Amino acid sequence: MKWRTGAREDPKPCREKDQGKFEITARDGQARLGKLHTKHGIVQTPCLLPVINPNIRTIEPREMWDKYGIQALITNSYVIWKHEKLKSVALSDGVHSLLDYPGMIMTDSGTFQSYVYGDVEVGVEEIVQFQKDIGVDVATMLDVFTRPDMTYSQVKEAVNETVKRSTPSISTAQEMMLNGPIQGGIFPELRAMSAKKMSELNFSVHPIGGIVPVMEQQKYTNLAKIMLATKSNLSPNRPVHMFGCGHPMLFPMLIALGADLFDSAAYVLFARDGRLLTPWGTEKISEMEEWPIIMPSVSNHTPAEVRKMNKEDRTILLSRFNLEVTLQELSRCRQAVRDGTIWRLAERRSHQHPALREAFLWLTTNPSKAILEPLILDEISASKETGEEKGRWEENWDWLVSAQQTPRNGGESWGGNDTFNRPHIQMAMRNLHSRWQSQKRGDVIVFHGTTPPWRDKIGELVDRISNLDYELFIQTPIGIVPYGLEDLNPWAHVEGPSWMWNGALDHIKIQSDLEKFGLVNRRVIPIDISDTEDLHNRVFEILGIGPTERDIEANKTRQIIDKMCVLYNMNYRDAADIMADSTYVMSRTGRIRNVINSNGAHIVSPRLAEGGLSLTVEGAKMLHSLRKIPVPKSFGTKKKSDCSGNGLAWVVVDSDAEPFVKQGRNVMHGFVLACDEWTRPDETVLIVNQSGELLAIGRSQSTPEELSTFKKGIAIKVREGCP
Ligand code: GUN
Repeated sequence: MKWRTGAREDPKPCREKDQGKFEITARDGQARLGKLHTKHGIVQTPCLLPVINPNIRTIEPREMWDKYGIQALITNSYVIWKHEKLKSVALSDGVHSLLDYPGMIMTDSGTFQSYVYGDVEVGVEEIVQFQKDIGVDVATMLDVFTRPDMTYSQVKEAVNETVKRSTPSISTAQEMMLNGPIQGGIFPELRAMSAKKMSELNFSVHPIGGIVPVMEQQKYTNLAKIMLATKSNLSPNRPVHMFGCGHPMLFPMLIALGADLFDSAAYVLFARDGRLLTPWGTEKISEMEEWPIIMPSVSNHTPAEVRKMNKEDRTILLSRFNLEVTLQELSRCRQAVRDGTIWRLAERRSHQHPALREAFLWLTTNPSKAILEPLILDEISASKETGEEKGRWEENWDWLVSAQQTPRNGGESWGGNDTFNRPHIQMAMRNLHSRWQSQKRGDVIVFHGTTPPWRDKIGELVDRISNLDYELFIQTPIGIVPYGLEDLNPWAHVEGPSWMWNGALDHIKIQSDLEKFGLVNRRVIPIDISDTEDLHNRVFEILGIGPTERDIEANKTRQIIDKMCVLYNMNYRDAADIMADSTYVMSRTGRIRNVINSNGAHIVSPRLAEGGLSLTVEGAKMLHSLRKIPVPKSFGTKKKSDCSGNGLAWVVVDSDAEPFVKQGRNVMHGFVLACDEWTRPDETVLIVNQSGELLAIGRSQSTPEELSTFKKGIAIKVREGCP
């Protein structure tokens, strides 16, 4: 979005049938770029809805539209309802005219006022009807605010009361888009309960409520836990709004956890007492000689000059500064989602503030093992009060990890120990450990001590020993990887200090990795390859054998089989059978370019940049014919079963979509009838009709839950139709 001088054109309304729909246009794990379709424009997310106090308009809404391109804002319908002058203009001319703003307007309902002042005088249906009467785009029901100091039973009652108020609110709203806030205080299981119940009702957006005091107290670990408990239980096809969250420092982490909309009065409130928002925290202008970031609004002034201004002018200027910084950080986050680096941005930002670091460390040191305790252990803890069994964070963590993709371009940028806990690395490890299948009964050889590309250093040696009864691994900073996957990202491409590769063998980590591969009680033979001088003879000596012949074919075949297992979820025997009859077209540098089957058909090609595989139509037909389980009839269950070895996931499409998909057109949401439960974003899938006939090869953009709930946007990108 460009900032500019002069007027900007008014937005075009969305298509009538799209009103209220949300679509994803790009993703990075659970972070997403989206479009929310409204009568006052199609709003690009993640975005900030600046709070406008209709009585004090520090920055005019029109300026927000014209200059900053802000596509949506939020104001308070209860404040308008209470002030006779505002109310009568809003009722006669509409809220867009009252605020002089052409974009999407969301309104809040008075819940926050009832939290601050104790009560509000307006009724549940009355406030929704009022929002409808003044023509807002997205209204909010009167939910019950849950404070962090409330007991478990008080919070449970508030969650249930909010659910109870939903039905009359939805009937009053009719076609108007409505916010269904998620409450639950600091109790993860109540957040989950609220998310599940509210998902079942006909809301357009789900704000996460009751988080203002959590943020004010800088309890960011609690915020991360609330987010994880809520998002993993919410219907994914609705945007999630963070009520009262506008500090740019929090954006990367929250976006990485799936936040779509933010609102905040912080840009004005902080400006009033001379505080500047930055992506790394808050700074006071009173102690400042130079700007922390030079934004357009302050480029002609020094902090000292601004301090001398009268309060009103200073507030306006600093509000602009705060808004500009906030918008800039959101742009940075959106670009990071496009680049596949949002987690890395959150990781980097986490070092800026101790409370944020604590939150991030909680997230990344595997919360799956932690118990779902209330987020602060007060003296009357929830478990004592309810006697309920506490669950674990396992499912919530799984929600985060299983939507991850390995970035295709660029390597893994080392960032200390955090690197190895990145969710996409965890996902890559899961696929590796559950899908790769050992074929040797003998010892394990672990090559260590040097950087990739390993084939240049030990390719010939492996040609000479791959027929022996040893399973061959390479130690990488991420963990050991079978030699057959030596060029596969993320293992093959970690940018970091050389000592990560040269360091001593980590026996404990190796044993734990081997267990995950299902290799127990195997002797480990470490082979240092930092010096390749006389390596072959050294290895023959270690293994107690004489010189062996090179078998290039066996080595190359195993590489393709290993990749078919890990990337296509194939069972080893099927992959080996295909490869037994296949030949290769080689590149000049001695790498496989194409794999040709016994009928002379090109079936698959290794992708040299990141070690992946590209499937051809003929290859897809072969893999399709190997399926041993029925055509999927549903979208699977949330409880994951072991699906390894079942082959590429199948996605079943509607007969209306069939001819288009066969011609190579993308599968749109709404046309998917079922899919295998191991369908994952960015993985290759086979698109079939209800009888299981192959229609196309695609790359899923979605999880099974998303395929079952979204109604707009691309579900599967089709690579090639299968005529
Ligand atoms: N603004 C800040 N927090 C909340 C909340 O929990 N509910 C509503 N309706 N508005 C809010």
